[in-house]
Amino acid sequence: MTSVTNTVRFVLDGQIVEAQGERRTTTVLDYLREQLHRTGTKEGCAEGDCGACVVMVGELNAAGDGVDYVPVNSCIQLLPSLDGKSVKTVESLKRADGSLHPVQAAMVSCHGSQCGFCTPGIVMSLVNLVQVVPAPSRQQITDSLSGNLCRCTGYKPIVDAAQNACAQGTAALKVDDAADLALLKEIQRAKAPTLSLDGDIVVQPVVRTRKGNAFVSPSTIAEVVHYLNEHPNTTLLAGSTEIGLQVNKQFSRPEHIMYLGNVAELRRVDETAQAWRIGAMVSLARVEALVAEAYPDFAEVLRRFGSPPIRSTATLAGNIANGSPIGDSMPCLMALGASLLLRRGDKTRELALDAFYTGQKQNALQSGEFIEAVVLPKPQAGRVFRAHKVSKRFEQDISATCAAISYGLKDGKLVGVRLAYNGLAPSPARAPKLEALLEGRAPTDVQASELDAAVAESFVHRDGLRATWTYRALLARNLVLEFLEEPNAEVVS
Ligand SMILES: Cc1cc2nc3c(=O)[nH]c(=O)nc-3n(C[C@H](O)[C@H](O)[C@H](O)COP(=O)(O)OP(=O)(O)OC[C@H]3O[C@@H](n4cnc5c(N)ncnc54)[C@H](O)[C@@H]3O)c2cc1C
Ligand code: FES
Ligand code: FES
Repeated sequence: MTSVTNTVRFVLDGQIVEAQGERRTTTVLDYLREQLHRTGTKEGCAEGDCGACVVMVGELNAAGDGVDYVPVNSCIQLLPSLDGKSVKTVESLKRADGSLHPVQAAMVSCHGSQCGFCTPGIVMSLVNLVQVVPAPSRQQITDSLSGNLCRCTGYKPIVDAAQNACAQGTAALKVDDAADLALLKEIQRAKAPTLSLDGDIVVQPVVRTRKGNAFVSPSTIAEVVHYLNEHPNTTLLAGSTEIGLQVNKQFSRPEHIMYLGNVAELRRVDETAQAWRIGAMVSLARVEALVAEAYPDFAEVLRRFGSPPIRSTATLAGNIANGSPIGDSMPCLMALGASLLLRRGDKTRELALDAFYTGQKQNALQSGEFIEAVVLPKPQAGRVFRAHKVSKRFEQDISATCAAISYGLKDGKLVGVRLAYNGLAPSPARAPKLEALLEGRAPTDVQASELDAAVAESFVHRDGLRATWTYRALLARNLVLEFLEEPNAEVVS
């Protein structure tokens, strides 16, 4: 058995916890339950789907005078990524006088719990919501619960409970973190690299085993580059919504893991008049807010991506690098002409996203290279963007197919058509034959039969677990017809 030599430090309810001797792949859930005996947090699926394990993770806000929280699925988050942060579990909600948090009290009075297994996760999702939105609408409440499965109660009493609790006002809803703030400052990770006497960068591990395997959590790109140069096979960890599954379900134990969540440069969104430069650690929740006005269909695809705890950690770069054939952001990004800034050592190259994939789960990244940012063009006057995801469930489900298109109209004819799908090819991809078919045509002239023929010629006819080929082919055609209807209504000005 290998042992570890380092310590993970995080704040829990006014105390610094020093986790020692844990593996680099220990999950937050296992540590909370098995070492801290916080058994209120439950394990249902261990793959981010059921929400029984939801806790709140906090970080010092930009001004350093408060804590920003996000809901997370603790079953798929790795403990060392908590270093420098704080955690709130359902046990944290108990008030000094022993009373319940208003959300808990309302769950009791509205009969929002039966067997109770889902209840701590539901309470934590709701408590997280009311930290950010003190008076949420019914829609915001149901959205916040889209990653919490309840098998016995039914959601109406739960949503009623949330609404009743919110009637009590902001002060009563806030979690008690007065004692956490100073401690969070005390355990902040260094903002600059550690240097050796010779001036070389030394990337300090959070966890290191006797065999020399490590979990590192750098703060700067310089450290990322340095570590990848020394260990090109390092597994990069962003939101952990894929890696966490690989750890839990495939028992993956990468030798070197590098968490990118503390690298300030990767958490930034920069903008020019033409484009947003979205750092590799920007969460999907932030991207959803960023594109809400410019590309409402893209925001809607993201609203239906996983659940709030998934989107609060998962990143655009992680979705792209993972390269699932049914990855949802990629059709939108390809239709919008997005590109990637790929970094290796001191060199950065820009590559169009539609040239990134070289096969199923294969891409153009070279050894030691990583995605530094995604460049997303801003809307251009006169161009239309449409996208739609089709899945068996509306929320918290992966695509049968997601399609996205962008085009202009000149003299009533389609120009500059970019059309992309997931679910139809080994990786998300543009559809050049369909684009050529549409180019120069009036939307009303496009016939279903010619689209069918182009779809049949473009993709491998293969049934999948999510949908048959026949169904996907039908979707591929019908979504185009839908996107071309009333084009002027959606023209971005
Ligand atoms: C419950 C659940 C629901 C989901 N729902 C959806 C859905 O609706 N649609 C969908 O498309 N996906 C879905 N996913 C899949 C997953 O959430 C996404 O692929 C997510 O975007 C991955 O991002 P991440 O930041 O969590 O990546 P991680 O898990 O941290 O990493 C994923 C991969 O990307 C690599 N990587 C991360 N950052 C970089 C970088 N900067 N440069 C190079 N490589 C990098 C990692 O090494 C790893 O191989 C779901 C997953 C779960 C568990
Ligand atoms: S245990 Fe089901 S989401 Fe974590
Ligand atoms: S109360 Fe039983 S699963 Fe929700």
